[in-house]
Amino acid sequence: MASPPPSTAPARLVVLVSGSGTNLQALLDAIGDDPEGFGAQIVAVGADRSGIAGLERAERAGLPTFVCRVKDHATREEWDAALAAETAGYHPDLVVSAGFMKIVGKEFLARFGGRFINTHPALLPSFPGAHGVRDALAYGVKVTGCTVHFVDDGVDTGPIIAQGVVEVTEEDTAEGEAALHERIKEIERKLLVEAVRRLARDGYRIEGRKVHLGHVGE
Ligand code: GRF
Repeated sequence: MASPPPSTAPARLVVLVSGSGTNLQALLDAIGDDPEGFGAQIVAVGADRSGIAGLERAERAGLPTFVCRVKDHATREEWDAALAAETAGYHPDLVVSAGFMKIVGKEFLARFGGRFINTHPALLPSFPGAHGVRDALAYGVKVTGCTVHFVDDGVDTGPIIAQGVVEVTEEDTAEGEAALHERIKEIERKLLVEAVRRLARDGYRIEGRKVHLGHVGE
């Protein structure tokens, strides 16, 4: 699967959030620092719940926002179709799940497969799912980290774009998940920004499980 060839127009990003939105903020800051050179612009921020800091960050940046809650729909499929329709309304080139804590369904993937990326706080394929940090710590690993990947129909199973490594220390074992997650997020924010910058600016190809950044060999 290939991305559209790089064009001079900045790629349009819709960012999906569920929480504090520090990954969203990192993208906002990086784009704000270099609006011409970054190669992408955030055109809207969506969430699966209201009243979160992630939405406040978007509003402060003057961006349109939307909330699509599972409980406002009769079925999960209807929620998924509504999320896909809201997102599609902003005509994104890339959709970024930045701490969006929902698994999307068939309709969303049919529209955005191959251009929907997620960031996960563990070194996939180890420790997928909602508790990647806690599970890695409980397993006793000495290194963990974060993974930016394309989303497919599994849970955190799609082709890997970039990974960052974080050492697990004795203090993490004593202090627990929150301290380790904060250290991972410092790396994760930079990794996500760089991944989005490269995907948007240089283009990419997905061949099976392999992601090639830039239009190599075309
Ligand atoms: C990130 O670590 C992400 O990988 C995980 O939730 C965290 C979101 O953080 N799924 P934030 O909302 O961007 O601050």
